[in-house]
Amino acid sequence: MPPSFKYVILGGGVAAGYAAWEFVLSGLRPGELAIISKEQVAPYERPALSKGYLNPEGPARLPGFHTCVNMGGPAERHGPEWYAQHGITLMLQTEVIGGDLSKKELLTKSKDIIKFEKLIIATGSTAMKLTDFKVPNSDARGIYYLREEADAAILDKAVKKAKGKNAVVLGGGYIGLEIGAALVINGVQTTIVFPEPHCLRRVFTPEIAAVYQTHYDGKGVKFIQAAVVGFVVDNSLNVTGVKLKDGSSLPAAMVVVGVGARPCSYLFPKQLAIEQGGYKVNGRLETSLPDVYAVGDVATFPIKLYGNEMQLQGHVRHARMSGKYVVQSIRAQEECRVIDDYDYVPYFYSRMLDMRWQFFGKNVGDCVVWGLANVTPAGGKFGAYWVMDGKVVGAFLESGSTDEYEALSRLIREQPQVTDLKKLEEDGICFALTV
Ligand code: FDA
Ligand code: NAD
Repeated sequence: MPPSFKYVILGGGVAAGYAAWEFVLSGLRPGELAIISKEQVAPYERPALSKGYLNPEGPARLPGFHTCVNMGGPAERHGPEWYAQHGITLMLQTEVIGGDLSKKELLTKSKDIIKFEKLIIATGSTAMKLTDFKVPNSDARGIYYLREEADAAILDKAVKKAKGKNAVVLGGGYIGLEIGAALVINGVQTTIVFPEPHCLRRVFTPEIAAVYQTHYDGKGVKFIQAAVVGFVVDNSLNVTGVKLKDGSSLPAAMVVVGVGARPCSYLFPKQLAIEQGGYKVNGRLETSLPDVYAVGDVATFPIKLYGNEMQLQGHVRHARMSGKYVVQSIRAQEECRVIDDYDYVPYFYSRMLDMRWQFFGKNVGDCVVWGLANVTPAGGKFGAYWVMDGKVVGAFLESGSTDEYEALSRLIREQPQVTDLKKLEEDGICFALTV
């Protein structure tokens, strides 16, 4: 008889960790829940991999960053013993390769079947690989990606070996900027290469990007706007450089690639509705099949604040919130109760060298950047508002206090009217604090 569980969480990342915690809070009985993960470690706070994990001094290591200390979580980290204590089966190093969801069965790579009554899919995203685009020599040794703890352990060793040498980071997004920062603080000579005119185009305007690029530049990181066409390798197929479209090349003892991620939504073709590359779910995070839910990076879900516009959100706050919400949604259904739909406001944050910022809402419409005069080479507080149809719909803040970030979060829910953009620029953070 294949093992059978009342609840199965497929994927053992952030959303899985927060869902397991919520199950326990809501009276889970021993033996009811299994988590299946291809990783070798219990759920952990993935953002640590590109930040504390690579610190030259006192680096973050498991069990120090297992879930769940956010969202009012306990101080205690949930390592494997916590799962055992609550009778939760952790099937680690177990990859699911498909299954028949109508029969409530999953199939693992080792050809085992696991049965479920209710399934929560939490398979997250995977890093896009240059080998997928057949970039010449992109399979050379010394080219690294970062998604899982095992990748971070390998990357960390390479970073330590590259001290004093050249490294190239491909991609000017979240991974590119955070890893670029980690490399330089480890004494690696770092160049970040990407094709767009400025970094983090998903959030930053050109003026905002200029502040961060100048700050990185001051720490010795170079930015190059270029397309990469291949890699230079030695006779043993170790990378030694990066070839650019203009025919030049950059020397590199190591390369880190952060050119985007895609949701892991390929396991059940034709069985579940897909939208924008993720599993389409409703406001209760139910997929197109009964008793099958999707959360975190892999779910395309309705954003209530935007009239149920469907969006993917590859960010940790959504993973945490949706992991907790889905369990509340399952419990409500079991108890024939109705709960409000999932209500998430887009939110992004990053720590980059000694700067840190948060963004709430949407970056559409007119952008008003304030406080740039406060910025010195050491940093400083500045921000931006995005105004669409006379309403503030997006807000960004560097170096804010907890109260200021909370004010921005409230502001974006309220979407206050503004008519005078010049005054908004003059008021800066005071606008959010007085709404
Ligand atoms: P997550 O990726 O956490 O977990 C998915 C799990 O499913 C993994 O354990 C995976 O191995 C497993 N899995 C996948 N397919 C499987 C299969 N077929 N069989 C078995 N297991 C399978 N966000 C943010 O807002 N701020 C930040 O600072 C950062 N920083 C950051 C750094 C780095 C290095 C990364 C890679 C990502 C971030 N993020 C972030 C993004 C954030 O970490 C991400 O949104 C959440 O981890 C998503 O949580 P999920 O649980 O959806 O997927
Ligand atoms: P991203 O989409 O943020 O950035 C991708 C970058 O790669 C862009 O600058 C793009 O121009 C560039 N690019 C694309 N093709 C390229 C090429 N061939 N050569 C050079 N550059 C190229 O993706 P990412 O930085 O890889 O992040 C992956 C995932 O991890 C995302 O889902 C992100 O949300 C998550 N993440 C988030 C955080 C955070 O929120 N602080 C931190 C790390 C990772």
